[in-house]
Amino acid sequence: MIEIEIDGQKVETRPGTTILAVARSVGVDIPTLCHHEALEPYGACRLCLVELSEAGRQSIVAACNYPLERSGLTVETDTPAVRQARKMSLQLLLARCPTVTVLQELAREWEVDPADLLIIGDGEEKCILCGLCVRVCREVIGKNVISFAYRGVERRVSTPFDRESDLCLGCTACAFVCPTGAIKVDEAKGRLLIAPWHSNLEQARCSSCGRPVAPVGMLAHLSEKLEQEPETGTLLCSRCRRLQAAAAAAALPEVRFVDRYRDYPGR
Ligand code: SF4
Ligand code: FES
Repeated sequence: MIEIEIDGQKVETRPGTTILAVARSVGVDIPTLCHHEALEPYGACRLCLVELSEAGRQSIVAACNYPLERSGLTVETDTPAVRQARKMSLQLLLARCPTVTVLQELAREWEVDPADLLIIGDGEEKCILCGLCVRVCREVIGKNVISFAYRGVERRVSTPFDRESDLCLGCTACAFVCPTGAIKVDEAKGRLLIAPWHSNLEQARCSSCGRPVAPVGMLAHLSEKLEQEPETGTLLCSRCRRLQAAAAAAALPEVRFVDRYRDYPGR
């Protein structure tokens, strides 16, 4: 174990633990936008900057991907230098994505005036290039459907050649982790559409009501992972499953409800 100090608190931790993990374990709040506990750190948004001191030397580092290796380090999460550095990161994100709600909320909280910014592009961009979607697709789903493409102000997340990829399952994990709402998921004529990746996927239908349940490719992927035969003919949506369970319960000869509070004092 090593011992470090964070905002005046002495903390013991295992070598290699990130500053962010240690801070959160002792209730110290550090803002993040590109971090997810289930994914490898990437260090893109720079909102988690903190001040690190060792042997009289100070530096500003990203808490999410800085592993603590030695005892004697001191971390400060709320100094003027930290606030200034985080503000600058926020200004850069806002200059690219001025209409993103989470950035606007931080701007109000940190007193950053969006009117002072030089907006890049048409001001409609929603992707802050945090890479969460890329990482969840690669690290959790194991598919690598999307990755970063182009450079500089043109940089964005895309499928290969910006075309529909036959690897996309339609799991929508990318949209789930996206902090800005940049990934739009829709349904049209029973097909699942994921706009930025041009995915247009056939969905299996509920065998009772006919509503779309889930993309065919995703059901096949799950069956493979769970080593089960794909469902054929008996696929139910969650609503029909509930209705079927309720009908089965109603058909029981006697349903007894136990009054758990019957013998409670005062009743
Ligand atoms: S689409 Fe969303 S999750 Fe993906 S990089 Fe952009 S902001 Fe992050
Ligand atoms: S959370 Fe650390 S750089 Fe984004």
